[in-house]
Parts: sequence; C-alpha cells; structure tokens
Amino acid sequence: MIPYVRLAYASTATANPVHIRNDLIQIFESARQYNFNHQLTGVLLYGNGYFFQYIEGRKPEVDRLYQHLLKDLRHQGVSLLFYDVAEQLKFEQWGSRYTHFEQPIEHFFQHNQLAGFNPYLLNNQLIHSFLDVLYSRNSSNSATTMQVLRGLEADQNTYVMSLKDMATVGVLILMLLIPLYLIVTLMPSTSGFFLF
Ligand SMILES: Cc1cc2nc3c(=O)[nH]c(=O)nc-3n(C[C@H](O)[C@H](O)[C@H](O)COP(=O)(O)O)c2cc1C
Repeated sequence: MIPYVRLAYASTATANPVHIRNDLIQIFESARQYNFNHQLTGVLLYGNGYFFQYIEGRKPEVDRLYQHLLKDLRHQGVSLLFYDVAEQLKFEQWGSRYTHFEQPIEHFFQHNQLAGFNPYLLNNQLIHSFLDVLYSRNSSNSATTMQVLRGLEADQNTYVMSLKDMATVGVLILMLLIPLYLIVTLMPSTSGFFLF
C-alpha cells in the first residue's frame, strides 16, 4: 500500500502587494496549526503576486485541505500542477513552512529561461527540480511569524524602492521641462512650433 499523496498548485493572490502582508500572516498562522494537527507537510511560497504551494500527507487530509483551498477568496486561478502518490514525505522535517521569495528561487527561473518567478510556468519536468531547490535550502527549523514578517518587510522595501525610483524620474522630467518651458515662453513668437 502506498501511504501518502502529494500535490502542488499555482495561484494568484487577490490582495494587492500592499495588503498581502495581513493575508500571509493569517494564512501562515492558521496553516501551521492545522497542518501540524493533520500531519500535513510542505511549503508555501509567495512572490510576484503568485502563490506556489506543495502539500503532502495522507490522502484524505491532503484532499480535504485542497478542497478548502479551492474556496479560499484570498487567491484565485488555482491551477493544479501535479498530484501523485508518494512513498515518503519529502518535507517531513520542515513541518509546514512559509518561504519568502528569494534569490535561489529567482535563479532557478532565470536558469530555465523563464522571466522571473511564475509558478504557472512549472511544467512536469521543472516542478520536481524546483522542489529540490526549495528542499535543499538550509531550513531545518520551521519559520516563525517573525521570519515571515521580516520577509514581508523586505518585500515592502522593494516596493518603496520602486516608488522612490518613480519619484526620481518625475523630478528629472520636471528639471528638463521647466527650462524648456522658460525658453519657449521667453522666445519671440516668430516660430509656430510651440503651442503653449
Ligand atoms: C495560498 C493559500 C495557502 C493556504 N495554505 C493552507 C495550509 O497549508 N493549511 C491550512 O490549514 N490552511 C491553508 N490556507 C487557508 C485555507 O484555504 C482555509 O482558509 C483554511 O483551511 C480554513 O478553511 P475554512 O475557513 O473553510 O474552515 C491557505 C490559504 C491560501 C490562500
């Protein structure tokens, strides 16, 4: 008898990146308790507005959780990437972890000529080597809520950085436009090129 099943899916977060923090903390907290009680293990990854989750355990438990997940309004477009039987639990030592989107994951996608993290693009061939990348990361302890928060703060820094970049571009554009405007308004109106 084969004791376990495992599945992985990709989905899209419904909250925008600014509000995802609350969703992730809630999901993480409830999942940790539920998964521990029902001997479910695996990994949940969030990045670029996408979720990737791998779940393994006894078939009735995995199936029940997946049915709940399908109805969860915090994500949409749930796409089952694979579902099969397993002799052993791969992530048993981990418990259930939240994994922050980070460099080895980005590298995996780049190395496979995929533009950035997008779990929908993980086909049958890629998905198992992707799981190996996640598994091989040094992660003998389950993540704490503090680690999740730190990861999210890193996300927010990225977001703030990009807002800063936009502000810089705006200032540069103004610095170019103001002298141009002054030149045009102070020029004798002999040419018909400028319509201020
Ligand atoms: C991306 C994502 C991953 C989730 N992962 C888990 C999980 O691993 N374990 C869990 O118990 N709940 C998880 N949840 C929450 C469940 O979808 C659901 O809210 C929870 O099982 C409670 O279901 P109920 O409100 O129907 O009782 C996840 C939700 C989302 C959006």
